[in-house]
Amino acid sequence: MHVKSAEFIKSAVKPSHYPEAVLPEFAFVGRSNVGKSSLINTLVNRKRLVKTSSTPGRTQLINFFDINGTFTFVDLPGYGYAKVPKKVVKSWGDMIETFLSQRETLKGVVLLMDIRRTPKQDEVDLINWFDHYSIPAILVLTKADKFSKQKQTVHHKKCASALDLTPEDFITFSSKSRLGKDKLWNKLEVLLENNE
Ligand code: GTP
Ligand code: MG
Repeated sequence: MHVKSAEFIKSAVKPSHYPEAVLPEFAFVGRSNVGKSSLINTLVNRKRLVKTSSTPGRTQLINFFDINGTFTFVDLPGYGYAKVPKKVVKSWGDMIETFLSQRETLKGVVLLMDIRRTPKQDEVDLINWFDHYSIPAILVLTKADKFSKQKQTVHHKKCASALDLTPEDFITFSSKSRLGKDKLWNKLEVLLENNE
């Protein structure tokens, strides 16, 4: 994908705040701090289009970005950050679920998982849930650069078997080395073409 332009559109918490549902959309989902915002910046070759932070839970709104004037990236707030009060966790969950279940322009989700952490029930639930709503999901293992090549392979397999999937179902990714960037674009392009 040749990214000519990438621009912030707006932030939202509820449907009345979403931009008009016109262009195809891709949402980025995953635990807090897994690297969602960094991955978007890597895809669009920008350092700071999306704010990143070493403090988990930094992205608390649904942020929409226009790419090339032809499709939209949606950075969703991360789940699973322990230090957030229960009430806030519930409202985040509702905000994400409302978006994923109601957004008719959503063409796919990218589910990010840290390669160092074996996927747990949260990820199983999300994958089942995408299936239920027939939302195509692309699975990405982030922060691959934290491991040697050999350890990457071991953990890649571990993550796959934890979800009853095969290693081919995942893209290993690094925002630092840009590993997996082209593969991820290829998958997104296939979903875009299916849409035409
Ligand atoms: P929330 O918005 O809090 O849900 O987090 P996020 O998923 O958007 O994560 P973000 O992109 O802000 O990254 C969190 C931290 O991980 C930052 O300190 C990033 O620099 C770091 N990080 C993200 N991706 C990578 C990666 O591929 N490799 C390494 N080594 N660090 C990364
Ligand atoms: Mg973020």
